[in-house]
Amino acid sequence: MGADGHKVKDTVSMWSILWKFMLVMSVVGTNTLTLYSLSVSRDLDRSLASLGLGRGEEGSFPKKIFQDLAKIREEIQSTRLQLLEVRSDLLSNLVKLQSSQAEHFQKQLSSPPVLSLLADDQDMSFAKEISPELQKYITAYPFPLGTHSIFNTKVLVSSVGQACAQSRDLLHKYMEYRVGELCPDDWDLAQDLMVRGCEPLPRRRCFARSPPKKHDPLPLPKSLWESPSDESVRWTHYRCKSFECLNLRKYNNTFEDCLDCFDLNGLEKQRWMVARDRHDFPLDQVLALKNGTIRIGLDIGGGTASFAARMHEHNVTIVTSSLNLKGPFNEFIALRGLVPLHLTISQRLPFFDNTLDLVHSMHVLSNWIPQESLEFLLYDIDRVLRPGGLFWLERFFCTENQLHSIYVPMIENLGYTKLKWAVGLKADKKGMALNHYYLSALLEKPARD
Ligand SMILES: *[C@@H]1O[C@H](CO)[C@@H](O)[C@H](O)[C@H]1NC(C)=O
Ligand SMILES: *[C@@H]1O[C@H](CO)[C@@H](O)[C@H](O)[C@H]1NC(C)=O
Ligand SMILES: *[C@@H]1O[C@H](CO)[C@@H](O)[C@H](O)[C@H]1NC(C)=O
Repeated sequence: MGADGHKVKDTVSMWSILWKFMLVMSVVGTNTLTLYSLSVSRDLDRSLASLGLGRGEEGSFPKKIFQDLAKIREEIQSTRLQLLEVRSDLLSNLVKLQSSQAEHFQKQLSSPPVLSLLADDQDMSFAKEISPELQKYITAYPFPLGTHSIFNTKVLVSSVGQACAQSRDLLHKYMEYRVGELCPDDWDLAQDLMVRGCEPLPRRRCFARSPPKKHDPLPLPKSLWESPSDESVRWTHYRCKSFECLNLRKYNNTFEDCLDCFDLNGLEKQRWMVARDRHDFPLDQVLALKNGTIRIGLDIGGGTASFAARMHEHNVTIVTSSLNLKGPFNEFIALRGLVPLHLTISQRLPFFDNTLDLVHSMHVLSNWIPQESLEFLLYDIDRVLRPGGLFWLERFFCTENQLHSIYVPMIENLGYTKLKWAVGLKADKKGMALNHYYLSALLEKPARD
């Protein structure tokens, strides 16, 4: 687009701002006047009544005042009518303008607030070159049946994370696809955006690709502890192309998360069954503490969801948040017959206040998370837990100094009852090298009002 094109756009946008301003002023103006005239007459009634001079008793009140008042009311009423006329003129002009002027103008009018978030103040060029699919997605569309009586809004706005503006290039790449066709093979791009805070992602109108072969999953409870076939997962964008390869990683001297998570016959099978050290709280003991009232919960960063699998065996429903970091965690969890939640630790938990019986997290909440972010997260966990619900913080790691100066005070600040509490050296190779400590705690949320 040439320089002229930009000039036209700028003029159009100036007009749009002006029109919007006038519209808002006229709406505000007429409504305020209505309210004012109503409240003036109501106040008058009240003060007259307090003087024993209600309207029914006009005879006892100086007639002149009533006449003046009636006059003022008439004037207010006629001013209001004039304003209403002006407003309807403005509206009809607007409609004419919309149909005659560039459709561009209409786009600007219907632009939701997110556009301004996506375009930072210095560089408006982003808003201009916003990809058509993204523009279409973020446009605020009016409800076909008029203002939604329960939402009390005129338009439906689709959501997209505010931090997406910081990853424009990735976001544009993500929104480049053919509508109605197969999406690009780019789940990794989606996750790259998410871990950069672009969450929720915009929806797309293309079809996600399937695994290589159509496989029905195993039935429950068999599915809980049997590794699925390699063909039930798409392996693109991973270094490993099979579960066997993922399971062999533990023999390579690499620091990666969840090296043995996919091996359902190894350590995964023992977890939460017996106490190997003071940081292990066996599941049946924990559940017995609450006598059958732990029924639903969340496991944050729960790997391949072995925690949820064990809980399932106790008739407890656990949703597991997990990212596909170097392995198909989400698919694996689903193939086990459990519920995966593809969510980073940055996003507000998608649960209502005081609803969950349990929030568990092992190894994930630790000193790698910025302190401020961790504190917001802890408050969010508190929000979704019901009073009497359990926060099971397992193997939180940090240095001894951090533990006592920062994290214990941060956790104690929540005011929970400590049902179990264990602190000790993190006795693995990495932990020894960094002089890390573990904290494991089972905490009960108090009631608040
Ligand atoms: C383990 O390391 C070797 C040598 O660096 C490499 O060739 C192999 O692919 C690695 N295997 C896994 C499963 O990471
Ligand atoms: C647990 O529940 C059972 C049956 O509902 C009841 O008999 C028992 O007293 C409860 N125990 C505690 C500690 O609340
Ligand atoms: C889970 O529920 C089933 C069916 O209600 C019941 O037979 C079983 O004993 C329960 N298991 C546990 C561990 O409570």
